[in-house]
Amino acid sequence: MGVKMNLYFDNLKEQRLMKNKLEINTERLQMRRINSGDAEALYNYRSDAETNQYQGWIPKTIDDAQNFISKVSEKIDEYDTWYQFAIIRKENGELIGDVGIHFFDADNYQVEIGCTLAKNHHGKGLANEALNAMINYLFSDLNKRRITCSIDPLNLASIKMVERIGFRKEAHFKQSILIDGEWYDDVVYALLRSEWSK
Ligand SMILES: CC(C)(COP(=O)(O)OP(=O)(O)OC[C@H]1O[C@@H](n2cnc3c(N)ncnc32)[C@H](O)[C@@H]1OP(=O)(O)O)[C@@H](O)C(=O)NCCC(=O)NCCS
Repeated sequence: MGVKMNLYFDNLKEQRLMKNKLEINTERLQMRRINSGDAEALYNYRSDAETNQYQGWIPKTIDDAQNFISKVSEKIDEYDTWYQFAIIRKENGELIGDVGIHFFDADNYQVEIGCTLAKNHHGKGLANEALNAMINYLFSDLNKRRITCSIDPLNLASIKMVERIGFRKEAHFKQSILIDGEWYDDVVYALLRSEWSK
């Protein structure tokens, strides 16, 4: 086999390893790319009316969840994609939520982040734990400079969550999002690497 062919296979192997290996661990949680086996669990918490009341995307069936997962980028840090991590409770392997990262910046310095947890896991500091680790990863490993969050101003639990982490409110856009014929306000929070001290 020629050198070029060997390099091709080495590269493929490396890509496969990276794809399967990316894992972010905290004391109570493990985060790894969401995959098709997670569709039912994702559907269960994301179809709950209380959990999804401020979200634009709501799965109506497990197939919707499967379709959502099939659109998640295979590789992290690709321009114009979303990468979605599943959040797993280490103590029992339960999938309890997800963290989505939107690589929207063509210059590759800024990302948008979002987090959803199943209702019975709220109020335990788990989103805080997951996002602190994810933010460290984004600033330290992926060399990001600015992280943003887009939140419905009525979503007080999310606002509390991002402010606790250290995000600053940067903007309040009036009636800037159209969902099913209704206009919604949007507040934008941001965190710079220079403001991050953990
Ligand atoms: C946004 C969301 C993830 C926040 O979950 P959360 O559990 O409130 O967030 P945190 O991890 O920051 O937990 C903080 C709460 O846990 C409590 N807590 C318990 N142990 C804790 C610990 N070790 N560390 C920190 N907080 C702890 C805090 O006191 C706080 O409770 P309070 O809200 O009564 O003051 C959750 O409300 C959710 O999934 N909402 C639906 C999805 C959504 O709208 N997402 C918005 C997109 S960004």
